[in-house]
Amino acid sequence: MDHFNFVDGHLHVEHLDVRQIVEQHGSPVYVYSAHTLKNHYSVLKDAFSALSPLICFSVKSCSNLSILKLLVDQGSGLDVVSGGELHRALMAGVTADKIVFAGVGKSREEIRYAVEAGVFLFNVESEGELLRLDEVATTAGKRIKVAIRINPDVADADTPEKTSTGGRQTKFGIPMERAYELFEPKRYSSVDVVGIHIHLGSPIPSAQTYLSAIDKIEDMINRLKATDCAIEFVNIGGGFPAQYGTESNPVGSLTETGALICQRLQGLKQRGIRFIIEPGRSISANAGILLTTVEYIKQGWDRKIAIVDAGMNVLLRPTLYGANHVIWPTHFENLSGHWTAITHSAQLSDVTHLEETDIVGPICETGDHFALGRALPAFDNGSVLAIFSCGAYGMSMASQYNSRGRPPEVLVEGINAKLIRARETHEDLVVHELCGLDNA
Ligand code: LLP
Repeated sequence: MDHFNFVDGHLHVEHLDVRQIVEQHGSPVYVYSAHTLKNHYSVLKDAFSALSPLICFSVKSCSNLSILKLLVDQGSGLDVVSGGELHRALMAGVTADKIVFAGVGKSREEIRYAVEAGVFLFNVESEGELLRLDEVATTAGKRIKVAIRINPDVADADTPEKTSTGGRQTKFGIPMERAYELFEPKRYSSVDVVGIHIHLGSPIPSAQTYLSAIDKIEDMINRLKATDCAIEFVNIGGGFPAQYGTESNPVGSLTETGALICQRLQGLKQRGIRFIIEPGRSISANAGILLTTVEYIKQGWDRKIAIVDAGMNVLLRPTLYGANHVIWPTHFENLSGHWTAITHSAQLSDVTHLEETDIVGPICETGDHFALGRALPAFDNGSVLAIFSCGAYGMSMASQYNSRGRPPEVLVEGINAKLIRARETHEDLVVHELCGLDNA
C-alpha cells in the first residue's frame, strides 16, 4: 500500500499536505514517498523470500540518486543498462558485487567502465557482445561473470506491444536453440558463462507468463548439465505489477505472483542455483505522483479542455503507450481516505457532479495529453491536479522538448520534504551549446 491519502479533502503524501510542496517548489513537480519505497521493497523481498534472491532495483524506472541511495540502504542491488546508470549506481553507494549490467547495445567504453568497476554480472544479449566482453576483460586482466539473456518466445497477451520483450519478434535476448553453443567454456579466455537471464516485458500481468518461461529455463539447464557448463544463477528480470487504476490490489497480486514463481523455482533452488530479480515499477510506480497546475480551461467544439503546466516532456507514458493514469484534483470535497478509494467511489456514485474533460499539456503536439474525455469533478484555473502512479518511467523518461526544463523532484518522509533534484532553468537548457557561440 502506498502513502498517498486525502485528509479532510486535501491530498497528503505521508503526513504532508501537497499544497506545501507546490508553494515551496512550484509546479509541475514530482513527489515521492520514502515510506512507500521502503514498504514496496520489503513486500517484494517477502514475496520472494523462499528464493532469497539478489534484488536489483531497475535504475531506468526511477534513477534519482537519492531514491537509489534509499533503496541501496535497504539492501537493494541495482540493475543498470548504460554507463550513465552505472555511474549513478556507484554514486548511490551500491557495491559493485550487487550490480547487474543489462542492455542490448553495450559500447566498448561502457564495458570497460563496468569491468574496471568490478560489476558482478553482465546480462549478455548477443554473441558479438560476448566476444567484446571477453576481449575487454582479457585486456584489463580481469575475469568476469556473464548470464546469457535468453529469448524464450514467451509473451504476455496483456503487456503493451512496445514494452513486451519475451517474444520471438523482439530484439531482445538470444533464441534458446542458438544460445546453447555460447555456454561452452572453451570459447572464452576471461569470461565465465554462469547464468541465464530473462526479462519478459513490462509489466507482466499474469504469473503464468513467468511460469512458462521458467519451465523453458529448467529444460535448458537440464540439457546444459550434460556439458561442462555450470549454471549458478537464474535472473528472472522484472515486470512485476503496480497499481495504475483504482480497481486492483497490486500488493496482493505481487505476493501471489511471487509465491507461484518461488514454488516453480524450488527444484532449481535445491540444485544450488541462486536467483536475481530486477523489479522497477513494482517498487517505484506507486511511490511517486506528478503535481501539475491548471493554466487554462477552455471549451472546444464538443469538449471541455483543461491545459495544465506539465506536458508529454514531463510524463511521456500516456502519449507513448496510451497509458492510463488516475488524475484527480488535490483538493476534493472534504473526504478522507486512500486515493484509490476517493477517486473510485466518486466515479461510481453520485457524490459529486463529474464532467468529461480532456487534460492536455502545453506542448505543440496533438498527442500531448494525459487523459481524453475523463470524468472528473469540477476544478478551476489554478487548481492543482495529481497524476498518480508516476514514480516509474515518469521523470526518468522526461525530456526538454519545446525547451521546457524538467521539473524538480521532492522526496517526502513523514512531514519532511526534501528537494532531491532542482528544477531545470533556462540556463540549464543551453549550457552544453554555449561552446558553439562565437562569443562564448
Ligand atoms: N530488467 C530489464 C532487463 C528491463 O529491461 C526492465 C525494463 C526491467 C528489468 C524493469 O521492468 P519493471 O519491473 O519496471 O516493469 N517505459 C516503459 C517500461 C519500459 C521497461 C523497460 N525495461 C513504461 O513506462 O511502462
